[in-house]
Amino acid sequence: MADAPAKVTTATLRARKGGPEKIAVVTAYDVVFARLADQAGLDVVLVGDSMGMVVQGERSTLPVTLDDVVYHSRIVSRGLTRAHLVADMPFMSYQASVEDGMRAAGRLMKEGNAEAVKLEGGVEVAELVRRLVGAGIPVMGHVGLTPQSIHQFGGFKVQGRTDEQRAHILEGARAVTDAGAYALVLEAVPHKLAAEITAAIPALTIGIGAGPGCDGQVMVMHDLLGLEPSWKPRFVRRYAEMGKAVAEAFAAYAADVRAGRFPSDRESYE
Ligand code: KIV
Repeated sequence: MADAPAKVTTATLRARKGGPEKIAVVTAYDVVFARLADQAGLDVVLVGDSMGMVVQGERSTLPVTLDDVVYHSRIVSRGLTRAHLVADMPFMSYQASVEDGMRAAGRLMKEGNAEAVKLEGGVEVAELVRRLVGAGIPVMGHVGLTPQSIHQFGGFKVQGRTDEQRAHILEGARAVTDAGAYALVLEAVPHKLAAEITAAIPALTIGIGAGPGCDGQVMVMHDLLGLEPSWKPRFVRRYAEMGKAVAEAFAAYAADVRAGRFPSDRESYE
C-alpha cells in the first residue's frame, strides 16, 4: 500500500520558501469542497471571510462574524487529512484590542480546528501577531488590498502603485514578518512589488492578483471553478465552468420531472 501523503504543516511550508515548487492555496467553505481540494493535493485550504461575498451574498466581507468563520472552519476541517487549514479573522474580531484578537484566534483554533489564523494589516497588527505567535498560534498576514478596509480605499482597487502606498505595504510586510508571521498574503499589488517583498522577507508570500513572483498563489474556489459566470476579473483563471454545468443540470432535472421522465422504474422501489 502506498504511504499516505505527508501532512502539510507550517514547518513543511516554510521549508519551501524560495524552492522550486510553489505553494497552492484555495478557499473552501464546506466539507465537500474541502475533501475535493485535499484529495487533489492542495497544500493549504483557507476558510476566507470571502464567504461573505461568495457564500452569503453580501457586497463585502465586513458582515462576516466570528461565529460564521468558526462554523465553516469546523466543517471544512472534517474534509481535510493532508492540507493545512487556515481560518480568517473577520472584521472587528481583532481591530479593537489585542485581547479581542487573542480570544478570537483562540476560538478559531479550539472550535474551528484551524491550524493557523489569517489577519489583515501591517504595523497596526504587529503587536497582535507577536502575541499570537507567542501563544503558539501560527499567523498568516495579509497586505496590499485588504478587503476589510475597502471603505478606506474607496473600493476594491489595486494597491501599491504610488510611492506612498508602496512604502506603506513594504513597511507592513516587514512589521508582520518581524512579529513572527510564517506567511503573508499579497493581494492586488503590482507584480514587481510582490517579487520585491518576496525577496525581502523570510515569510512565504502567497499572491492573489500579485503576479508570478510570490512563493505561492491563492484563489477563491468560486472564481477558479467558474461558479459565478458573470465575475471574471483580470487576476482570475478559470479551471472549470461549474456555474454553467450546474445550471444545465438543474434545468435538465426540472425538465425530466415536469415531463414525467424522472424517476424511471429502475429509480423506483418494488
Ligand atoms: O477571504 C479570502 O478568501 C481571502 C483570500 C482571497 C486571500 O482573504
